[in-house]
Amino acid sequence: MSQAHVRRPTIAPSLLAADFGRLREEVAAIETAGADWLHLDVMDGHFVPNISFGPVVLAALRKHSKLPFDVHLMITPADPYIQAFADAGADHIAIHPEAGPHPHRTLQLIRSLGKKAGVVLNPGTPPDSIAWLLDLTDIVLVMSVNPGFGGQRFLPSQLDKIAALRRMIDTAGRPIALAVDGGITPDTAPAVLRAGADTLIAGTAVFGATDYAAAIAGLRTEAAA
Ligand code: DX5
Ligand code: ZN
Repeated sequence: MSQAHVRRPTIAPSLLAADFGRLREEVAAIETAGADWLHLDVMDGHFVPNISFGPVVLAALRKHSKLPFDVHLMITPADPYIQAFADAGADHIAIHPEAGPHPHRTLQLIRSLGKKAGVVLNPGTPPDSIAWLLDLTDIVLVMSVNPGFGGQRFLPSQLDKIAALRRMIDTAGRPIALAVDGGITPDTAPAVLRAGADTLIAGTAVFGATDYAAAIAGLRTEAAA
């Protein structure tokens, strides 16, 4: 189970830390550098205190990349925009349960469009809150910072939550990725993986590095240590 994941974690660089004046080249660079997914943070200035980009940017990049597009929606309401992100080329669409009164319905909608469905837990959101969503979930994403900005410090309080979710997923007995987002670096990644995560989302640690391949390999190597 989690030991197998620790050997080769999925690495998903977060576009939020890329040079927005050169998005196409940035995405090509991390693809060449060995990224597994591209993580795309969509922010509305309402659910979180920052604004990023929407489906038009996804559609523009989709033509130039084969990476799975892992879309993290920090918007409320989310339901009216799910179809647009699916059409724009999202492969995974993750929502915060707090973004609307019917997260179960939203996950059904994402699945009905043939996309992988994700649920995201804020640092203050308990693991049990998604127990009755797990049967519709392909990716559980633990926020290890408060959402809205890159470059924040990792919250160690989330390690116990990752471990609790690992147990819930193992009990569920079906493949559900367990991802962690926020403050992931070669220093924080090993504890995250030891707690049972299998997927690392990293913005600053990848796009802030001069050598993207070394940064991605570094997260993997440190993780395996
Ligand atoms: C924050 C986003 C993260 C962010 C991570 O709201 O969900 O994906 O880009 O950035 P780092 O890795 O710099 O903490
Ligand atoms: Zn994110």
